[in-house]
Amino acid sequence: MDFTAMEHLRGRDFISLKDFDGRSLYQILDVAQRFKAMNHGHIPHPHVLRGKTLAMIFSKSSTRTRVSFETGIWQLGGLGQFLSSGDLQLGRGETIHDTAKVLSRYVDGIMIRTFDHQDVLDLAEHASIPVINGLTDLLHPCQVMADFLTIKEHKGSIQGLKVTYMGDGNNMANSLMFGGARFGAHVTICSPEGYLPAQEMVEQARGVAAAEQGTEIHVETDAVAAVQGADVVYTDVWASMGQESQQQQRLQEFRAYQVNQELMAHAKPDAVVMHCLPAHRGEEITAEILDGPQAIVFDQAENRLHAQKAIMALLMR
Ligand code: CP
Ligand code: NVA
Repeated sequence: MDFTAMEHLRGRDFISLKDFDGRSLYQILDVAQRFKAMNHGHIPHPHVLRGKTLAMIFSKSSTRTRVSFETGIWQLGGLGQFLSSGDLQLGRGETIHDTAKVLSRYVDGIMIRTFDHQDVLDLAEHASIPVINGLTDLLHPCQVMADFLTIKEHKGSIQGLKVTYMGDGNNMANSLMFGGARFGAHVTICSPEGYLPAQEMVEQARGVAAAEQGTEIHVETDAVAAVQGADVVYTDVWASMGQESQQQQRLQEFRAYQVNQELMAHAKPDAVVMHCLPAHRGEEITAEILDGPQAIVFDQAENRLHAQKAIMALLMR
């Protein structure tokens, strides 16, 4: 594979979609599609990461992120090392700074899933190798790369589509706003009062949209108005990792924001339904919708593998 047009991505961190222009993100999607075609055609991948190691630090649970990164780097000829933060000296008080410096002497990239977004920024500042954000309380950029790859596959093009996100103004909502702004989709985030994304994030995403293709970023509290004319209806859990104690209260407050048959009647007839997973059937989405014909959630989950291979190949070569 020829990566010469993508040399500018080598060595960079992947922390927010805000940090990359739309052209670069589309280049990553193109590489992801090529990797996907290789998997589906049973063609072995070029070992562009032969001899390279990715340290994968997890302070939160994961199925998709862990398995897709570990499998992905292996397919590219490299090694993924699963590191639970509780087992690292990090969990006993060793600083992020020292951890960053030490790991930079051993491995070629660090993927981290943690709570505080600032920890990822600190890690990146003190590491001399690429740092990839595998989810923080603020952002989940790798998920959104897989999401827009999936949208592109199902809709042919991303430009001008209306993507409506129903639910908590969380890491997914924030990253979807940046993704839509970069890839050229209109994004509406619909949450109950008190759970909308932070105004600062909305303003930043609007700034990105203005610098790219001028798409619109809306926030909305009316569920029916939000899904009107939507091409994509997206949802996520009402209580994210770390918010377990608020689960019962959130169940009450988010009730009117469930993605169900009645709500989907207001979206376009050919609208697709997305969820980053894991899902709670009967809460943010009904089983009927999640397991029904409009849902493309397992394509999304599969595309984590291909999108991340592209990210690792372009950053870590
Ligand atoms: N969507 C996602 O990131 O899944 P995991 O929490 O299983 O990694
Ligand atoms: N918002 C969810 C996403 C999980 C992939 C969480 O942070 O738990």
